Amino acid sequence: MNAPLSGLTGACHIGHATGAMQIKVLGSGAGGGLPQWNCAGRNSAGVREGVPGLRARTQSSLAVSANGKDWVLLNATPDLRQQINETPELHPDPNGPVRNSPIKAVVLTNGDVDHVAGLLNLREGQPFTIYGSERVLGVLAENSIFNVLNPEIVDRVPMTLGEPFQVKGPDGPVGIEIEGFAVPGKVALYLEDESAGEDFGTQEGDTVGLKVTDTIAGTHFFYVPGCAQVDDRLKERLTGAPLVFFDGTLFTNDEMLRQGMLQKTGERMGHMNMSGPKGTLAAFEDLGVERKVFIHINNSNPVLREDSEERAVVTKAGWDVAFDGMKLEL
Ligand code: MLT
Ligand code: MN
Repeated sequence: MNAPLSGLTGACHIGHATGAMQIKVLGSGAGGGLPQWNCAGRNSAGVREGVPGLRARTQSSLAVSANGKDWVLLNATPDLRQQINETPELHPDPNGPVRNSPIKAVVLTNGDVDHVAGLLNLREGQPFTIYGSERVLGVLAENSIFNVLNPEIVDRVPMTLGEPFQVKGPDGPVGIEIEGFAVPGKVALYLEDESAGEDFGTQEGDTVGLKVTDTIAGTHFFYVPGCAQVDDRLKERLTGAPLVFFDGTLFTNDEMLRQGMLQKTGERMGHMNMSGPKGTLAAFEDLGVERKVFIHINNSNPVLREDSEERAVVTKAGWDVAFDGMKLEL
């Protein structure tokens, strides 16, 4: 039986083991964040106006630790510098050497800008390890700007899908095991090949979900920030899970079109939507997941407003909506 979730805590656990896996939401928004730089839509404008019950959100990423000392980032967003500054657990140890960081590794779920561009913030000669599928590491290899992370000190380790591995930092294992697995999705926007047909050249490994296990506490959770469909394979995997963070991009498939933001449906973007018979709420209904948390929430999504009808719908269905700084222990 899995240990019960202790839920949200306000406590800070820097530098000492608590016996539980610590999970911090560094960012809960989709690409662009909230507010988005060029968006005057209802939510982006609302945040700028200070509408109550509507929080700013940076782009989606989690930080995870088994020992409260070594941290693993799940994705690295363009907001990473801000996220680190706002997260004391990720600050250098003031009693350590002049250059040090508790960030020991980054695990990537796809090659999207909102999930890899933050690697560039981790330059400055600090050793850590990058894990990604062959497809995603291929994207880094093809873009020479990532060589600013000197491969001699920043290891790039391919993640074989379906094979759990121990996450290792420069000083060895950090007590976290990860299994990456392919989920239905789409190749990164900037790699879409229109000539390749309706999947735009998408291949296995372009979008992965992560099973994250604390090898000390024995607890685990799933992180799936991008997903086009909950197929039978994914249902089987997630059934009975103690905690799942899942793609919360849109509430309805056409909401970006209706708000005049983008001529694309969620389906076209490779994201499920929350509502409707084929939506996420319906897909999870019988999976018996103990705690369900939406993450990667687009600035068009009405659930971002705590007083909205749509928020009430997802809450009634047993879902939390992640926010920046949310902390869970497992
Ligand atoms: C997505 O989640 O669909 C992408 O992050 C979109 C983008 O690259 O802007
Ligand atoms: Mn995204």
